[in-house]
Amino acid sequence: NLYEEPLRGQFHFSPMRGWNNDPNGMVFYNGEYHLFFQHNPYGWAWGNMTWGHAVSKDMVHWEELPSALLPDEMGPMFSGGAVVDWKNTSGFGKDGKPPMVVFYTAAGNPTVQCMAYSNDGRHFTKYEGNPIIKEISGGNRDPKVVWHEPTKSWVLVFYVELGGVHTMHFFTSPNLKEWTFASKIDGFFECPEFFEAPVDGDATKKKWVLSGASSDYRIGSFDGKTFTPETSMLPGQRGKDFYAAQAFSDQPDGRHILIGWWRTETRGMPFNQSMSIPLDLRLVQTAEGPRLTYTPVKELEALRAKSHRIAPQSLKPGDKNPLDDIRAELVEVRAEFEPGEADEVIFNIRDVMVVYDAKKQEFSVNGHRAPAPLIDGKQRITIFCDRTGVEAFASDGLCFIPMPINLKGENRRLYLETRGGAAKIASLEVHELRSAWK
Ligand code: FRU
Repeated sequence: NLYEEPLRGQFHFSPMRGWNNDPNGMVFYNGEYHLFFQHNPYGWAWGNMTWGHAVSKDMVHWEELPSALLPDEMGPMFSGGAVVDWKNTSGFGKDGKPPMVVFYTAAGNPTVQCMAYSNDGRHFTKYEGNPIIKEISGGNRDPKVVWHEPTKSWVLVFYVELGGVHTMHFFTSPNLKEWTFASKIDGFFECPEFFEAPVDGDATKKKWVLSGASSDYRIGSFDGKTFTPETSMLPGQRGKDFYAAQAFSDQPDGRHILIGWWRTETRGMPFNQSMSIPLDLRLVQTAEGPRLTYTPVKELEALRAKSHRIAPQSLKPGDKNPLDDIRAELVEVRAEFEPGEADEVIFNIRDVMVVYDAKKQEFSVNGHRAPAPLIDGKQRITIFCDRTGVEAFASDGLCFIPMPINLKGENRRLYLETRGGAAKIASLEVHELRSAWK
């Protein structure tokens, strides 16, 4: 049945049919989250780039709608972002209601930046004045637009390959139609994300974050024209096959919620690839300076079908597996522990090895390792497991390892063990999850 195929992620968005890559045009508009995506409606592999479209009330349950932007005489529809034009600066609004405006790359010859708008979140009209930015080089694409309140202007940041150098260009506009070059910065590749967020939730300490498609990022300040980095390039996610992540514009509660293209390979399925779970991004102050943390959005709690809370315990090598009684396909595991004498705390989730190496303070998924410091002597780990892999989090989100792996449907066992000595397990929860498609 539709959405029940063996390799269909059950709480990860994927299109009904055909290929997807990047999330596009992520915006909250008229009470709905909109997720557009790079889509091939006619094939299993990349091609015929079209903007697919889905909507959700909670970012967890998605309904796919007809494609929003079809290829035209200017080319296929490559990636970009969206905004709500609250003040109707563009004049695209209707009946006193603000329009949704989406930005995309028409990847023809020349390759140019364009826009389209909608007054109902269902029908899209391409702007008759397209392109809004002419070709700078053949490799220019992926416009992301944000509102800059202090200068009361729109800012468009996009990727431009200049003589082999990867750059981001910033343009500004009063009305989304006329754009003026403002600045450029080297060292970022494809699909920018750019937002301002408070450090440790303190609204008086806001910083801007600029990232490229890999999620590597720099934190700094922005005066409306120039981004001035205050950190070196930092790794965002530390896993594999997570790319081109974008955050929702106009998020009503001010959170920065990101979805990435999760390159799950779904051979034999009528669709290919999928999206990550929605991730809540925050800036926290660490001893090394401000850093991004990634945590699963709280809306995912709606998927919990049955919860197991396991008693706190000292777990030593050879002890009975505390997860022995549980069988689950879709699962969320949360644990808090002090490693104590243990060298390793090992979760086996349906044959995926999620390991905390206490000696090295490293976290790993199937051997793919990343630094994961203890925080106040404790480690807190969250693991989401779907048919197509796991997303694992440690160190309160400082360490995020997405890892697509096609799991064996029949293996529903979970294990927890320690090596080298006892660890103090302060809390351990396993939530069996339901499908988001039902
Ligand atoms: C990133 C990307 C973008 C481009 C799109 C085309 O995955 O290469 O730069 O707009 O995919 O599908």
